[in-house]
Amino acid sequence: MNKRIIKDGISWLGAIDWERRLFDALIPLPDGTSYNAYLVEGTEKIALLDTVEPMKKDVLLAQLQDVPKIDYIVIHHVEQDHSGTLPDVLEMYPDAVVLTNKKAQAMLVDHMPVDPARIRLVEDNETVSLGGRTLQFMHMPWVHWPETMVTWLAEDKILFSCDFMGSHVATSDLFVKDKGVVFEAAKRYYAEIMMPFRKLITNHLKRLDELDIELIAPSHGPIYDEPEWIMNAYKQWTDDVPKNEVVIPYISMHGSTQRMVEYLVGSLAARNVRVHPFDLAVTDIGKLATALVDAATIVIGTPTVHAGPHPNVFYATHLANALRPKLRFASVIGSYGWGTQAVERIASLIPNLKVELLNPVMIKGIPTKNDYQALDNLAQAIADKHKTFLKD
Ligand code: FEO
Repeated sequence: MNKRIIKDGISWLGAIDWERRLFDALIPLPDGTSYNAYLVEGTEKIALLDTVEPMKKDVLLAQLQDVPKIDYIVIHHVEQDHSGTLPDVLEMYPDAVVLTNKKAQAMLVDHMPVDPARIRLVEDNETVSLGGRTLQFMHMPWVHWPETMVTWLAEDKILFSCDFMGSHVATSDLFVKDKGVVFEAAKRYYAEIMMPFRKLITNHLKRLDELDIELIAPSHGPIYDEPEWIMNAYKQWTDDVPKNEVVIPYISMHGSTQRMVEYLVGSLAARNVRVHPFDLAVTDIGKLATALVDAATIVIGTPTVHAGPHPNVFYATHLANALRPKLRFASVIGSYGWGTQAVERIASLIPNLKVELLNPVMIKGIPTKNDYQALDNLAQAIADKHKTFLKD
């Protein structure tokens, strides 16, 4: 992909990674992704904002062939998908200076061969003039690492937001066209890497509310030309009020836990509670993370293996605990052969979740009439609990 003009003197550079299917050997990328860099030209200076994933460095270097000089390279975030080509760009432009913050400086030097003498530190809110255009750096830790910052270009009303509000989508659209696709991808992105820092993000959003933003240019996915659309989505995702929704990550070895889950799904749906079951034998873990953004309750379904939960359930429970969603209630259901400590072990895995534990339903063998009644009772308890915070 060639450079693309956003407006006179401001271009998108970067690479679309159509085929990538996994990030950090952890996060599924069903729609690929992009690594966005931006070129901002003033009357006196030229700045490159971020670089690209090292495996795509040839794409960026080719886009820079007709750029005779770069004065500044802004590094918003040290993760390799944005900073990994920095050594190559510095080699190409021996007079270029890296602009970044103190935390990022240390991390850059730790992660790649960059001469610290070529780095100039910028403080929160500091400005650097390019001539007719002014870069203002705003430190915004934890979107996505502790060193992350964003750049506000006041003259053009553009926020270069790095990972913040980004989406893993490979698309030829420079600006958001398909809101359905981008909403889902941006929500998944928030869920997978930003949800643990909800409170901080709320403060960042308040800061951004003070700006008259016309474009949000993230480092993944298309540019937002309706900034309030993605900012409002983030405000809803990060607020403290969950929705009338239940997430059920589960796995079944011989069908009994599966039957219990299916019954509970129906019982909750009959009480107008929205349910998202995820069979952990086959599920895309990113979809589970996305469902956790809004859910009020998690019900973990597990058979008993060596007295505890199934290993896949350990994994999913650890993930839910690490992501710190706004869950308020939790329970466990499942079947065992002769004895179980699954409930106790699952409870010990979720110290970060400030949830009220609702009565579990653990049964021996296949479910009977009394067991189904217990599941109805659990569904009713969940529906009643949800009514305590629902506005409609
Ligand atoms: Fe897109 Fe945190 O890197």
